[in-house]
Amino acid sequence: MTPETTPEVNQTVAPGVDLGRLMGEIEALAAFSDTPAPSVTRVLWTQPDRQARAFVLERFQAAGLRIRLDGLGNTFARWVGRDDTLPAVATGSHTDAIPQAGRYDGVVGVLGGLEAIRTLQAEGFSPARSLELILFTAEEPTRFGVGCLGSRAMSGALDEAALLALRGEDGVGLDQARRAAGFDLPLDEVRLPSGQYAAFVELHIEQGPELEREDLDIGVVSHIAAPASLLLHFGGEGGHAGARLMPGRRDALLAAAEAALALERATLEAGAMDAVGTAGLLNVSPNAINSIPSRVTMGLDLRDTDAGRRDATLARALAGAREAAARRGVTLEEQFLNADPPAQADEAIMAATQAACRARGYAARPLVSRAYHDALFMARLAPTGMIFIPCRGGVSHRPDEYSSPGHIGRGVRVLADVLAELSRG
Ligand code: GLV
Ligand code: MN
Ligand code: MN
Repeated sequence: MTPETTPEVNQTVAPGVDLGRLMGEIEALAAFSDTPAPSVTRVLWTQPDRQARAFVLERFQAAGLRIRLDGLGNTFARWVGRDDTLPAVATGSHTDAIPQAGRYDGVVGVLGGLEAIRTLQAEGFSPARSLELILFTAEEPTRFGVGCLGSRAMSGALDEAALLALRGEDGVGLDQARRAAGFDLPLDEVRLPSGQYAAFVELHIEQGPELEREDLDIGVVSHIAAPASLLLHFGGEGGHAGARLMPGRRDALLAAAEAALALERATLEAGAMDAVGTAGLLNVSPNAINSIPSRVTMGLDLRDTDAGRRDATLARALAGAREAAARRGVTLEEQFLNADPPAQADEAIMAATQAACRARGYAARPLVSRAYHDALFMARLAPTGMIFIPCRGGVSHRPDEYSSPGHIGRGVRVLADVLAELSRG
């Protein structure tokens, strides 16, 4: 037990929340990883991902929740309310983790969502509407290139044909991979009707520095920025690094390097703090120190709160990439993965979150989410909100990602209060 999770402290920071239990579960889940602690690597349907799913499923069942799984492995755990015919109130997040990530991204919304439900159960709360906790499949794009796979498909933004066309870098298609993981229900039943949920609220670490810098407990998300990503495939000419002279070389990696710089330049020229561009993926072939790179795939990620400005930035970056490729005699193929619109939080859910913070004495303010989340797609199905908690140094997608038990406890307490409010009927 850390000092912050002793029962006395717990009752001060987050009354009713069993922080010792929750932190123990977060720690146990972190052990399911393909890389050593403190890093967590849990890619979709690998063994650690499957073990993590089994772990949370067992916890969901132990809390008496009614389980449903769909053909992608999205997991729905329902606390049946007094009138189960009413649209339910949902919460949840993901447990998959990108390579070399930390233990809190997504997990706080799944295990914290469970703790919020258990807190309400222990307090004798009786929801009129059912409360549904969702473990979303593959919020991270690592395996199939597209983020928010589960929620994207639930919202109808990815239909059965598009799902079946997905193939990972290992050449294994989504259908084969899901069946190997034990999920074979029809994919055309993953999509949810709008009206299924009265509301969706996701608890998540901020993944940025603002809450910590201002010493705030809670961020009330107002918007989720619009993400876009694409792969650029460069084709040049390989050869011997020593024998081949510099004039006339067609080096695919140098064209890609110029494209990465064009993305940085275009993003800075957007003139907005909300515009962020990253070239974070690079595959070089043949990837040998004494061989000229002949083929390169580079992944670009670009986000902005303003989708029009994001698209204009992307167009400028691509113009730079095309110019560099042409000048170097390198071919360029552009493969778009996603270009999603932004989402706006529901005002009533934001107000309920702010009211909960006031009542608990937690310092809060509205905040933009620059990362994407399953809430981006749930917002197409239901009024949606997000509750952010601080993380140390704003660090995320790294092994040293950290949120304190106190902050997690406050986040869970606010989530429980908001779920209670929304599920009253
Ligand atoms: C989610 O992990 C994101 O990249 O925003
Ligand atoms: Mn993430
Ligand atoms: Mn996440």
